Amino acid sequence: MIQKYVYGTPFETEAVTEAVKTEVGKPAYGQITSEDGFCFTYVMGEEDIVYGLGEANRGLNKRGYRYFSDCTDGPNHIESMQAMYAAHNFLVLAGEKTFGLFFDYPAKMVFDIGYTRADTLTVSCDRADLNLYVIEGESAYDIVKQFRRMTGKSYIPPKFAFGYGQSRWGYKTKEDFRQVVNGYRSRHIPLDMVYMDIDYMQDYKDFTLNPETFADFPAFVKEMKEQGIRLIPIIDAGVKVEKGYPVYEEGVKNRYFCQREDGSDFVAAVWPGDTHFPDVLNPKARRWFGDQYRFLTEQGIEGFWNDMNEPSIFYTPEAVEAIMKSLQEALATTDGKIPLTWLRGIADQYNIQEEYKRFYHQVGEERIRHDQVHNLFGYNMTRAAAEGLERVEPDKRFLLFSRSSYIGMHRYGGIWTGDNCSWWSHILLNLKMMASLNMCGFLYTGADLGGFGADTTRELLLRWLALGVFTPLMRNHTSYGTRDQECYQFENPDDFAHVIGVRYRLLPYLYSEFMKAALLDDLYIKPLAFVYPNDRMALLVEDQMMLGNEIMIAPVYTQNARGRYVYLPEEMKFIKFLPDGTISEAILPKGHHYVEIALAEVPLFIRSGRCIPVAEAAETVEEVNGANLQMIGYPGAAYTLYEDDGIHKSYEKPEDGRVLRME
Ligand code: GLC
Repeated sequence: MIQKYVYGTPFETEAVTEAVKTEVGKPAYGQITSEDGFCFTYVMGEEDIVYGLGEANRGLNKRGYRYFSDCTDGPNHIESMQAMYAAHNFLVLAGEKTFGLFFDYPAKMVFDIGYTRADTLTVSCDRADLNLYVIEGESAYDIVKQFRRMTGKSYIPPKFAFGYGQSRWGYKTKEDFRQVVNGYRSRHIPLDMVYMDIDYMQDYKDFTLNPETFADFPAFVKEMKEQGIRLIPIIDAGVKVEKGYPVYEEGVKNRYFCQREDGSDFVAAVWPGDTHFPDVLNPKARRWFGDQYRFLTEQGIEGFWNDMNEPSIFYTPEAVEAIMKSLQEALATTDGKIPLTWLRGIADQYNIQEEYKRFYHQVGEERIRHDQVHNLFGYNMTRAAAEGLERVEPDKRFLLFSRSSYIGMHRYGGIWTGDNCSWWSHILLNLKMMASLNMCGFLYTGADLGGFGADTTRELLLRWLALGVFTPLMRNHTSYGTRDQECYQFENPDDFAHVIGVRYRLLPYLYSEFMKAALLDDLYIKPLAFVYPNDRMALLVEDQMMLGNEIMIAPVYTQNARGRYVYLPEEMKFIKFLPDGTISEAILPKGHHYVEIALAEVPLFIRSGRCIPVAEAAETVEEVNGANLQMIGYPGAAYTLYEDDGIHKSYEKPEDGRVLRME
């Protein structure tokens, strides 16, 4: 049961797609004040667990910290980080009382979940203009499913997007891409996609190609495709300010860019230098921006990643002016020498929140200051792209994912979780975030495998890939200036071929489970507690997850490990994909176990009485042979395999799938 409460005059975010009747009176849970800003307060039971918040830091159980919904380009995902790239304001309290809360509010919100007072949840924001949805149900899992139905079907990518992809900020020429493809193909490490970061563009201008390095691009796209590779270019939010650049000229002429209060186009510096932001909240501008993607689809491109769409701002002319003024003032007091204290303080003077007050969106007749709808920018940039791609070919699935997002964006694209680091702790964060993101509708997600910032190691990358085998978006990506991170750069590439190969062997199962979750508003990755709600131990496990309906995963996420401890809420079959291509099996009883998992092994656990299909090894998604499947698990069990062409939007009914039996 879902109840909606309206405070003030909420902005229509379009997060919710189902009609929900508005209640009068107060919600059954918590206290609300809405006189001076908005604040929801609830005293939690001692053992209540708080799920949700999608892309957020720290635990699966969010209790014990404070989180901001305030989309931020923050590349240091350290433990104390409070705002990430996304705003997913959905929580489920599970315990003494079990209910869900969705705060549909597009500006900064603070979630204090037992941070100020250990027993108290407060959710607050500056303006009391929002919709609050309160969801009651049989269990946390049931509440999540209701929330998923209320916010609409999750985005479904084409099947090739379930392959493995290589990325790096720094590939500049066709030769660089050819080398990557050759590096993989020559060592028989599977590969379906290579991502094009900002260097493919001319001077970082969206919807352009560097004419020197990417002359005759359609032929290059074709050349790659003939080797089974899709190129996936990046699109950034800011459009470079440059006379004669058609996207800039058209945007200025038609007033499609965000403007300052005085009506001039707002300027923010990002990678290309000065840029304007397309006003993706204005339907006309959104349509225009979405239509630009044709520039690349017409050349054979079938997927995109949208970046810098919090939107990220390095500086503005206003900020530079303020810094210059402050410098002049400082110099006046020090006889012209730059005071060191000024230099130290200058970094702290930069306040991004102020920048977000400098520009406006045109929504219908209304002009809305950006900071009031800040968290909707990445969502609407990706919506622009999805709607544009739909106009290109209505029945075709395109690969599309974004860095910034808000609830509702899950209908248009997936997300990746941004600039993580080559740190062991980020493997675990990746795992926990996946489950939270699934609760918020974001099924097609993944982290930069191997880590974006800092230098990876062979061991870290192999262990992370063994988790990546199970994340829908499986992409190795790293920053400019870091150590080489392509799998073939490390000793014994066969180990990598094996680990990534397991993804392809499991593809029939993984795709089938993803599609069932997407079509039935279910979760692809979920906490153990959702499946074993009465098992007290299962409620506490944060480093193992249920994957689809048949298996549990438990990745290794520590250095020099030979294995790890796992908790089994029921008897399960412990499966390992071994580097020699064979599969080891052992039945383990319910309870705690230490299981050995060598570096290049991929572990999983099959639930009692279940089985899964396994394909033969393949190097591309297209090569995976669904006709020749081996079943592993419990004899006598059956599995219903979902299949479709992986290209079009005409989906099958999950219950009509092919029934596979294990002898
Ligand atoms: C941002 C993105 C990263 C990309 C870089 C350059 O930091 O998060 O993935 O490589 O920009 O485009």
